[in-house]
Amino acid sequence: MAVDIERTKGNYAHAGNLKSRASLYDYRKPQIDPVDIAAGLVPSDLRFALDVGCGYGRYLKRLRADHPRATIVGIDAAPGMLAEVEPPVMVADAQAIPYPDDSADTVLAMHMLYHVPDIAKALNEFRRVLKPGGTLLVSTNDHDDMAEPYAHWARAIRSVLGAETFFPGDEVAKFDSANAPGYLEAVFDSVERFEERGLVSVPEPGPLMDYLKSIRSFVDGDDSAFERIVETAAAELDAHFAEHDVFEFEKAIVFYRCR
Ligand SMILES: C[S@@+](CC[C@H](N)C(=O)[O-])C[C@H]1O[C@@H](n2cnc3c(N)ncnc32)[C@H](O)[C@@H]1O
Repeated sequence: MAVDIERTKGNYAHAGNLKSRASLYDYRKPQIDPVDIAAGLVPSDLRFALDVGCGYGRYLKRLRADHPRATIVGIDAAPGMLAEVEPPVMVADAQAIPYPDDSADTVLAMHMLYHVPDIAKALNEFRRVLKPGGTLLVSTNDHDDMAEPYAHWARAIRSVLGAETFFPGDEVAKFDSANAPGYLEAVFDSVERFEERGLVSVPEPGPLMDYLKSIRSFVDGDDSAFERIVETAAAELDAHFAEHDVFEFEKAIVFYRCR
């Protein structure tokens, strides 16, 4: 199924859904902050950077603190995501970046390319706005990332809406570690890969149920169907926790530094 930009904008109408999903990783061991990793991968002489799909600005805040003389512009297609981000910010689409050729030394695209309808077009935009020798830093999920919770949510959604229904995990898989190198190597000469893996042990159903509720806008069906999905998922988790102390899965993030 094609990417539906309205579904995406609906989910990112405010920062709450993304923050809810990110809080699931509070249970990860070792505790890794992807922002620390990104901060170590950007050029040390950063002057002018665009953080495309910046969300609520967690990367951008860190880069501004680390590089106080640099200008770092936050760009997002969803205006509500930018509400808490300090300027300079701009509402724009990764497929048509309103900056001239050769203007940025660094572009960030962190966990956002799987939402973009034409990934190759966005990558060519990143190439166009980057100065010669500039750096693109991309992050996304490993191909097997969070397999158990995704299977759990897919069972609940498909048991109510049918086997063929759209599942948000299918969208995320459009740009993961299995296919990202092909997209990136088509546009950039050098693509370096970095990876961080951790084990997430969730001790109660609540955070997993919150994650499911946070993807409501990506799930087909009316509110009563979604209530049934939530009930189905809750019953499955109750059965799981009746026999186990935790719900465990691997969280694995990949970063690509491209030049
Ligand atoms: C999973 S969030 C990641 C946010 C941030 N980069 C981070 O890692 O915390 C994806 C973000 O990409 C934005 N986005 C989705 N499609 C976009 C597009 N075509 N152009 C620009 N931003 C887009 C969403 O609004 C959302 O804020």
